[in-house]
Amino acid sequence: MTLENKTILITGASAGIGKAIAGKLSLINCRLILAARRISLLDEIKSNPAAKAEIETVQCDVSKKEDVAAAYKFAVEKFGNIDIAILNAGVGMHVTPTAFNSEYAEKVMGTNFMGVVYWIEHLLKDYLKNNRGTIVGISSLADNRAYGTSFYNPSKAALTIFLEGLRLDLKKHNINVITVRPGFVETDMTSRNNFKMPFLISPSKAAEIIVEGIIKEKKMIQFPIPTVLLTRIIGFLPLSLYELFAAKGKK
Ligand SMILES: NC(=O)c1ccc[n+]([C@@H]2O[C@H](COP(=O)([O-])OP(=O)(O)OC[C@H]3O[C@@H](n4cnc5c(N)ncnc54)[C@H](OP(=O)(O)O)[C@@H]3O)[C@@H](O)[C@H]2O)c1
Repeated sequence: MTLENKTILITGASAGIGKAIAGKLSLINCRLILAARRISLLDEIKSNPAAKAEIETVQCDVSKKEDVAAAYKFAVEKFGNIDIAILNAGVGMHVTPTAFNSEYAEKVMGTNFMGVVYWIEHLLKDYLKNNRGTIVGISSLADNRAYGTSFYNPSKAALTIFLEGLRLDLKKHNINVITVRPGFVETDMTSRNNFKMPFLISPSKAAEIIVEGIIKEKKMIQFPIPTVLLTRIIGFLPLSLYELFAAKGKK
């Protein structure tokens, strides 16, 4: 698929992976809708003199249904139908049994899972009507096991499984659902991690792989390969062995 002349939405485009994807796509001849809460950061991308794309920015907290409805309306009014939606906005928050707080769960699940669902609720109406469209959900290689008390891993597990089911149903409607499962990428999110992050890559490399995967219309874009293999092996470990492995990682 060519991205030229397409209308492409990117949520969470103000930083990290989303910003890197926006930067790459801004150099081609397409229409971009960049969404995030920090609109001033989006406007910096928009004002890049090297940008070839037509760019509109919109403030949107994806965990708020009404924000998503307003941002969708804005996008359609500006550019008509969205062809490709890159649903990337996400948060990671550390939680421990002693600092357990359901508000964290609401924030993480509300952004990483419901934030995608709210967008798809709008996109699907047009996609089904037109029998075409692409949904790109940014999940994570951390979707297959938990590494301690966390709402992040469950949010990504829910997202990956949700996208898998959606793909099965939407295939006959000519709607592509692409699941992206990155390993560690050097962004604000991972800068807070106090553990070793193997095979860490730059946001620009991640964006390059994601954009290439979208062009190739892959069902699953996962990277980097060593982390894909490692997490696959970890996923196969029986519980007792996995607990030994996870305990070692926490030392
Ligand atoms: N970094 C990694 O190692 C890694 C690995 C696997 C998967 N991922 C996934 O990749 C995606 C991007 O992560 P990143 O590492 O690039 O993180 P990041 O640098 O912290 O950027 C997160 C982006 O999401 C936006 N965002 C957060 N909460 C939002 C909300 N409620 N509404 C709208 N936008 C929101 C932020 O924009 P505002 O704050 O301006 O709203 C920002 O643009 C996430 O889904 C993350 O889970 C990351």
